[in-house]
Amino acid sequence: VSTPVPITVRPATSEDLPVLLAMRDDLNDLERAGCPHAPIARLTLEEFQARWGHTIEDPGYCWRIVEVEDQPVGYGLIYLTTPARDRVAAFLHWAYLAPGSRQQGLGKVLVEEMLDWARSRGAAHVELRYIDGNDMAGAFWTKMGFQSFARQCVLSLGPSGRP
Ligand SMILES: CC(C)(COP(=O)(O)OP(=O)(O)OC[C@H]1O[C@@H](n2cnc3c(N)ncnc32)[C@H](O)[C@@H]1OP(=O)(O)O)[C@@H](O)C(=O)NCCC(=O)NCCS
Repeated sequence: VSTPVPITVRPATSEDLPVLLAMRDDLNDLERAGCPHAPIARLTLEEFQARWGHTIEDPGYCWRIVEVEDQPVGYGLIYLTTPARDRVAAFLHWAYLAPGSRQQGLGKVLVEEMLDWARSRGAAHVELRYIDGNDMAGAFWTKMGFQSFARQCVLSLGPSGRP
């Protein structure tokens, strides 16, 4: 895949966890701005490490960092979801580019690399979700060939009334 911007897409390592968390925070801010009731919680670095740290070296997970001139400008995560399914499938959990690196073809390079990874492991299809109000994501995923097939809903059970 060619892109006008010279980029590197490399596997993430555990040393990238702080950068990954900072980019996740930025994505979550964008998502909450478009959908305040989305049940998205900020995580401390310790919480992020506890939730995701063990997956970085797991061969069933594909973490990628996008770099321009050796600086991280984006990340992605896709993993296999086979155990619950008859057929091998994958879930594309994250694809993110920093604001200054969007709409230059980098997201397409990142996602195609993750789709190749899933394909090479026998995945028959890939699922993802994006938050209501994130129209940028909706336009991008449609362009990448994804089709909507379900709605995801939330009801708060907490006293605050917020998820
Ligand atoms: C969504 C995101 C990953 C897309 O990456 P990107 O580098 O901006 O996208 P690309 O430049 O590779 O665009 C690929 C195609 O999608 C289209 N596209 C991308 N963003 C678009 C937008 N906001 N509106 C309309 N089309 C868009 C491009 O025009 C391009 O189409 P083409 O192949 O016909 O030229 C990036 O915008 C981003 O990180 N956004 C914030 C985080 C986010 O929302 N992530 C998804 C969460 S689920």
